[in-house]
Amino acid sequence: MTAGERWDAKYTDWREPGPPSDFVTSSAELLAGCPSAVELAGGAGGTALWLASQGIDTTLVDVSGRALEIARVAADERGLRLRTVQADLESDPLPTVDELGGEGGWHAAVCTNFLHRPLLGALDALLAPGGIALVLIATVDNLLHNPRPGRPFLVKRGELPELCGGLEPVSFEEGWFGRRHEARLVARCPS
Ligand SMILES: C[S@@+](CC[C@H](N)C(=O)[O-])C[C@H]1O[C@@H](n2cnc3c(N)ncnc32)[C@H](O)[C@@H]1O
Repeated sequence: MTAGERWDAKYTDWREPGPPSDFVTSSAELLAGCPSAVELAGGAGGTALWLASQGIDTTLVDVSGRALEIARVAADERGLRLRTVQADLESDPLPTVDELGGEGGWHAAVCTNFLHRPLLGALDALLAPGGIALVLIATVDNLLHNPRPGRPFLVKRGELPELCGGLEPVSFEEGWFGRRHEARLVARCPS
């Protein structure tokens, strides 16, 4: 079974995109006036649709065709423009900016709850100079209260800024957000 088929199965019962990430919506001030954004492994598009609703030209990338279809239907219903790209970010070569339709690099890149270390190390190549990355991954401490996600999907304490090495940290928080222990990084692509 491919990653796409596996994730399609998980999205079978989904009808709606779900809410946007509070980490991203709480960065609204930073994103204000941002012309374009890409959300990587953004699933059914709750966050991507919120970005689009802010007037940002938004591209949603995910391996699940089913998730992308849910996002597209919701975008149509809400009168929002959303570009979707189906790609396997782990086994395919990383898509280039041009392949994903982000001329000259995106002004924002969002990746939440999807850990593929080479992807995080390549975020600077997807961003325009001065562009902002918002990355949220649960840490291994999350296992103290939650059996999932499993260890392969979790960062070690202090690891996230190192993984996004090509970017300059703007803010980095690690701790309990509700019942989840998360690393939350906002970083900027050098100009
Ligand atoms: C835990 S969900 C997170 C979804 C969303 N980012 C969020 O925070 O709610 C992981 C997402 O990664 C996608 N995904 C898993 N493997 C992938 C891959 N190899 N390439 C691209 N997307 C993938 C899944 O389809 C799913 O939407």
